Amino acid sequence: TDPALIRNFCIIAHIDHGKSTLADRMLQLTGVVEDRQMRAQYLDRMDIERERGITIKSQAVRLPFTAADDVSYVLNLIDTPGHVDFSYEVSRSLAACEGAVLLVDAAQGIEAQTLANLYMALENDLAIIPVLNKIDLPAAQPEKYAAELAGIIGCDPSDVLRVSAKTGVGVEDLLNEIVAKIPPPVGDADAPARAMIFDSVYDTYRGVVTYVRVVDGRLGTRERIQMMSSRATHEMLEIGVSSPEPTKVDSLGVGEVGYLITGVKDVRQSRVGDTVTSAAKPAADILSGYRDPKPMVFSGLYPIEGTDYPVLRDALEKLQLNDAALVFEPETSAALGFGFRCGFLGLLHLEITRDRLEREFNLDLISTAPNVVYQVRMEDGVEHTVTNPSEFPEGKIAEVREPVVRATLLSPSDYVGQIMELCQGRRGSLQGMDYLSEDRVEMRYTLPLAEIVFDFFDQLKSRTKGYASLDYEPSGEQVADLVKVDILLQGEMVDAFSAIVHKENAYSYGLEMTKKLRELIPRQQFEVPIQAAVGARVIARENIRAIRKDVLSKCYGGDISRKRKLLEKQKEGKKRMKMVGRVEVPQEAFISALSTE
Ligand code: GTP
Repeated sequence: TDPALIRNFCIIAHIDHGKSTLADRMLQLTGVVEDRQMRAQYLDRMDIERERGITIKSQAVRLPFTAADDVSYVLNLIDTPGHVDFSYEVSRSLAACEGAVLLVDAAQGIEAQTLANLYMALENDLAIIPVLNKIDLPAAQPEKYAAELAGIIGCDPSDVLRVSAKTGVGVEDLLNEIVAKIPPPVGDADAPARAMIFDSVYDTYRGVVTYVRVVDGRLGTRERIQMMSSRATHEMLEIGVSSPEPTKVDSLGVGEVGYLITGVKDVRQSRVGDTVTSAAKPAADILSGYRDPKPMVFSGLYPIEGTDYPVLRDALEKLQLNDAALVFEPETSAALGFGFRCGFLGLLHLEITRDRLEREFNLDLISTAPNVVYQVRMEDGVEHTVTNPSEFPEGKIAEVREPVVRATLLSPSDYVGQIMELCQGRRGSLQGMDYLSEDRVEMRYTLPLAEIVFDFFDQLKSRTKGYASLDYEPSGEQVADLVKVDILLQGEMVDAFSAIVHKENAYSYGLEMTKKLRELIPRQQFEVPIQAAVGARVIARENIRAIRKDVLSKCYGGDISRKRKLLEKQKEGKKRMKMVGRVEVPQEAFISALSTE
């Protein structure tokens, strides 16, 4: 296709503002999906995505469109993922486009996440088409929100399009606007091929499917390709476009969007952001923006049934085929047995992964409280990277650094006080505040990631009746007064409960955990102290009183078979007990102590 006739665009929208519905209408309007094949949300593939109503993996679809000028164009719609954990993927899918449709619910107005993605699009020099959706709703306030959008992007309120993705009103006008306002791609057709990977998906039948946007030159079926970040070369098995079913083509040229199927076996060999070139005639420079996905949040995952350990390992390996950001390594815990320490992009990524493990692989899992990655510098200059609190180094520590994020919060102005209180309580510092309209405020904070990882989002929602929205991005690290709190049973440390907390919160964490465990652990034949300690200093203590437990005393008189049965039973019960020093703890106690977090 002549690049002049191509338009590459994405839709930036908050969850539920109607992105999938709009995409469906575009598929229908351009005739690529016949009405009777149309099922809601054609582009969302995974069940979990559908259930949670979020799009995790970006997809691309090619839409042939005859515009108002009677010329046939090719519109490539690149679907961006919609959650903060995946902001790196968002930035790559934006980089594959020349323009973005900024889609906002006409009854809700813009949300923090959308705003963050809009800023990212503006940084990438994308043409922005502001659109209000759901104008059919009685609660729609198009005038109000058109003025708000116009204020944010600096256009006239009359430039804001109004559509209903549900009824289809205004969608054709929007397609014409895309043709008119979004510039066609430019690239050097004679240069060595360069294509950017904006998505990479593992498919059971086809192997890894790599979605690319060609920047320069041409990629053809009969050549080997090279991944520029690793220099690894692969055989090219198929090139195609999604329209929306995969359709083979001979080659892809400047500005075109499509998929490649190569000999690549897992997505880590074909990473989002990397540049694909021809192995025979490689380009000199990689396209800018490639970054290794970096896990930010770690948690230990353990099978509840110890015998499931190999199943869990296989399952993690399978998920990794499709998830370049998932990392894991074996770990042993005195309390929980054999498991894996896993690294995730964020909390949602953790939740989704855990969900899939339980659902698709039929596993029952217990996960330890999520923690961020700490850097510890010792007085002798040695640096440690701590991904598991129980591995926090002993000895003379010079400083501890923790990751911080830049957070954007959007809220009705009534809740400013509550939000400030929440952020201050989480060691946040206010960086700025702007009124988007009379009654809506944008607040910018820097916050320790560790403070967001716990129940920040839930707290924010409950304090603002669900009206506030949050977006954040990594913003380096800071030195902080952090300590490790250990929980000890009869003087033995229980690794799964160690936590790294701010000095001021150490006491309350210690108190809470010792109380919880006293209730959960049954009495033993001797007294068991439960202590919380920072280093050698005990900061909280509870006691489990002793009982005299002797099952055999009941069989006084000596029915031998009954006696044996009781002994058997006791042995069986012991199997599900974990020994911490001399103390027997039912695994259940650990599980409930961790899950009520
Ligand atoms: P994610 O894919 O989860 O990001 O959500 P989304 O933004 O794609 O939203 P989706 O298309 O799933 O729409 C969310 C809800 O809004 C659905 O119940 C849609 O039926 C409804 N909806 C979408 N567009 C319109 C519209 O124009 N009018 C009305 N009344 N409802 C709409």
